Amino acid sequence: MRAAAQVDVNIPRLCATDSLKAFGSCRICLVQIEGRKGFVASCTTPIEEGMVVRTQSEDIAKLRRNIMELYISDHPLDCLTCAANGDCQLQDTAGEVGLRSVRYGYSGENHLKMEKDTSHAYFTFDPSKCIVCSRCVRACEEVQGTFALTIDGRGFESKVSASQDEDFSSSECVSCGACVQACPTATLIENSIIDNGIPEHSVLTTCAYCGVGCAFDAQVRGDQVVRMVPHKNGKANRGHSCIKGRFAFGYATHKERITTPMIRANIEEPWRQVEWNEAVEFAALRIRQIQDKYGKDSVGGITSSRCTNEETYLVQKLIRAAFGNNNIDTCARVCHSPTGYGLKTTLGESAGTQTFDSIQKADVIIVMGANPTDAHPVFASRMKKRLREGAKLIVIDPRRIDLVKSPHVNSEHHLALMPGTNVALLNALSHVVVRDGLEDKNFIDSRCEKESFLQWKRIIGENKNSPEALEEAIGVPANNIIAAAHLYAKARNGAIYYGLGVTEHSQGSTAVMAIANLAMLTGNLGREGVGVNPLRGQNNVQGACDMGSFPHELPGYRHVSIDEVREPFEKLWGVKIRPEPGLRIPNMFDSAIEGGFKGLYCQGEDIAQSDPNTQHVEEALRSLECLIVQDIFLNETAKFAHVFLPGASFLEKDGTFTNAERRISPVRRVMSPLSGKADWQATMALSNALGFEMNYRHPSEIMEEIAKLTPTFSGVSYERLDEEGSLQWPCDSEAPYGTPTMHIDEFVRGKGFFAVTEYVATDEKIGKQFPLLLTTGRTLSQYNVGAQTRRTENLQFHTEDVLELHPYDAENRGIVGGDMVQITSRSGQISLRAKLTDRVQPSVVYTTFHHPGTGANVITTDNSDWATNCPEYKVTAVEVRKIKSNSAWQSQYEAFTKRQEFFLQEAKT
Ligand code: SF4
Ligand code: SF4
Ligand code: SF4
Ligand code: FES
Repeated sequence: MRAAAQVDVNIPRLCATDSLKAFGSCRICLVQIEGRKGFVASCTTPIEEGMVVRTQSEDIAKLRRNIMELYISDHPLDCLTCAANGDCQLQDTAGEVGLRSVRYGYSGENHLKMEKDTSHAYFTFDPSKCIVCSRCVRACEEVQGTFALTIDGRGFESKVSASQDEDFSSSECVSCGACVQACPTATLIENSIIDNGIPEHSVLTTCAYCGVGCAFDAQVRGDQVVRMVPHKNGKANRGHSCIKGRFAFGYATHKERITTPMIRANIEEPWRQVEWNEAVEFAALRIRQIQDKYGKDSVGGITSSRCTNEETYLVQKLIRAAFGNNNIDTCARVCHSPTGYGLKTTLGESAGTQTFDSIQKADVIIVMGANPTDAHPVFASRMKKRLREGAKLIVIDPRRIDLVKSPHVNSEHHLALMPGTNVALLNALSHVVVRDGLEDKNFIDSRCEKESFLQWKRIIGENKNSPEALEEAIGVPANNIIAAAHLYAKARNGAIYYGLGVTEHSQGSTAVMAIANLAMLTGNLGREGVGVNPLRGQNNVQGACDMGSFPHELPGYRHVSIDEVREPFEKLWGVKIRPEPGLRIPNMFDSAIEGGFKGLYCQGEDIAQSDPNTQHVEEALRSLECLIVQDIFLNETAKFAHVFLPGASFLEKDGTFTNAERRISPVRRVMSPLSGKADWQATMALSNALGFEMNYRHPSEIMEEIAKLTPTFSGVSYERLDEEGSLQWPCDSEAPYGTPTMHIDEFVRGKGFFAVTEYVATDEKIGKQFPLLLTTGRTLSQYNVGAQTRRTENLQFHTEDVLELHPYDAENRGIVGGDMVQITSRSGQISLRAKLTDRVQPSVVYTTFHHPGTGANVITTDNSDWATNCPEYKVTAVEVRKIKSNSAWQSQYEAFTKRQEFFLQEAKT
């Protein structure tokens, strides 16, 4: 079948599809082969040298018609009213094989009265239309790796069944939608298609949720998106998606979208809706008044990892050129800033080293402090596929994430370390490799700095770094650490994937460097199947960092203090750029509370919910005289704002996102901005009102400027992106097609640098008052602060944040599942519902932070990474006890929110 397709000969098919292994059940694809008797299924018959195949003949046509006739004899004849009419492979194939009549009536046994399953929020299962082709079952197994579906029964009784013959919503289904996409009939169909009809056209764009950066065809009817279909040739996702990208797009037109600019003198006043001009003039005047009164450095900005590269670039340009300082920072401060620091120091570039495709060549995979099945689901599916093929897995996580054991996936080792001991564990792994002579001597000799290696080796070899010395602190038996070190070091290809469980610690940067050391030590860098790969949280966090969002770096990670770095920017922008780094987000907060920092432009970031020590953040926001928030909803931060500039969703603008593989992918406008302006246009308007002129007509012109000023982007343009689909930076004259794998012959910094990574225990200690350690994470259906996903049907998959607690700790405190409990830390107090589970070990508790009312960050402390100030979200000493009511913060939050919502209503009336 594939060979025929390559020479443009089409063979009808029902059970075969490009993305699944051939199955051979429907028999529509029968062909004749010269010299062989009868007919064979072309999808399962391999082509051979000299084979003569007849794909069309009278006999073949008759057979195909007869088979199709049998299918149709057990299929409702309601094509005209079927939601898939015009977009149904069964219908098309019936036409293709020339079926004109059906000789068999419905008087015999049939499946036409089977009941629909409408339990799922996003799709409907109508078994009366099922042809039992197994495409859905195979998609769930092969593409998604969840194994939620099966074909129950035999012969005529065969039917698709979810889990133990449950409805979809109660089954193990994780709502990725692969089965719906694979179904050739209307049996599995999106509710959005049932409600709105089939699409009229589609626009290729990129998902705006996580750092996987899946390519999608946004399918549109009129001006409404009716379906998001993962793009078959998307290089990051290879035709797959998760529940968020595929289904959770309804927030873009949610009734709570704010589409008119608003201003107010102070936060205890109702909002006033105004025209764009008035809002930006008001904002500009306030910024200038503040600077006149408190000095040039009293204002700053925060870029968004949800906005495009072009928009982020413009915001940092606005701050450096129009505000006249380097007080610019981004949400990577609170997630992957240690990755930037750690990888730049050791390897020379602040980014992951591989493509996602690279996992297909990995033999041993370490997943550390990341939960890919929830936070990076499409990548997790690809990883699970490789694991099913035989690769081995080591999970390093305090919590038993799904990857530890799931259908057909069993990790070799789960090192359930105590939160806060990453560096100790990584050092112990390296110690074993060195002690047992497992290092890759050739790689170290040829690729790494000798001096730094020898110094590092001497220290790592000390007994204090041995698994035996550290096992108690880490909470993992030495033998398990030794076995894991051997497995990784002896792998032909060993790959490390890590997440915020590595970076969000007081030693986050140290841990990233320790990971890089381990990879260099074992020669696992510079080719496919290996590498050091941060799994980025937000869609464009890589891009936001690339675009100069940090106070000390201009685009391309070049230090602002270097004259030669600033010069080209100064020349093109026509201004002088300050050579001293500006304030980081935590410094902005501290300075605001002290009275020195008074004005902030915050684009698409919800710092009041996402940053640690909420009460401290709130105090800082209340201290500001002008807070400009640009967002699509009245988020938590906007409740403290004086100017609200309506933002645009990713469906409303052109631009690019850069994913965790450094892949720059196009974002293309599907509908007009609801507020009349895309985000880059709003920033431009503010800049012009401040007197620093910006005159871009299209984001492609911004990208031209980025390419001119950023060596690693010099080969990027919208034309090249259209030609290639996406490009991985560095993309320049030496690598015009981009750089899928980094550090191939040498590291970006030349020789690899072994940084000494002494383990220093965090200051956040457990004791009598706070005997448990809280760690935080994400869940599949929600995204980050939840502002988008909570405004979709995804809400029903995760209605509240709960506290996971081991039954042992619960019993000691008289807590049963479902009880409201109070969690107290040194920073604050919140209450949540308890969920008892042995996913967490005794003395560790865990929660998510998707609901603002939970206030998970009320209790996180402002301890932070020594190098980057990245907060230590993952380790908070707490105590938990049973209570009946909300915490004081939660009651105050509810009252404040109610008042702010009233102020918003006032603006609308
Ligand atoms: S939606 Fe995904 S997980 Fe659920 S049954 Fe279909 S393929 Fe499986
Ligand atoms: S539900 Fe669709 S894909 Fe699954 S067996 Fe039935 S027709 Fe085939
Ligand atoms: S959320 Fe991430 S994995 Fe899911 S579709 Fe979007 S980019 Fe892909
Ligand atoms: S397509 Fe070959 S048997 Fe179904």
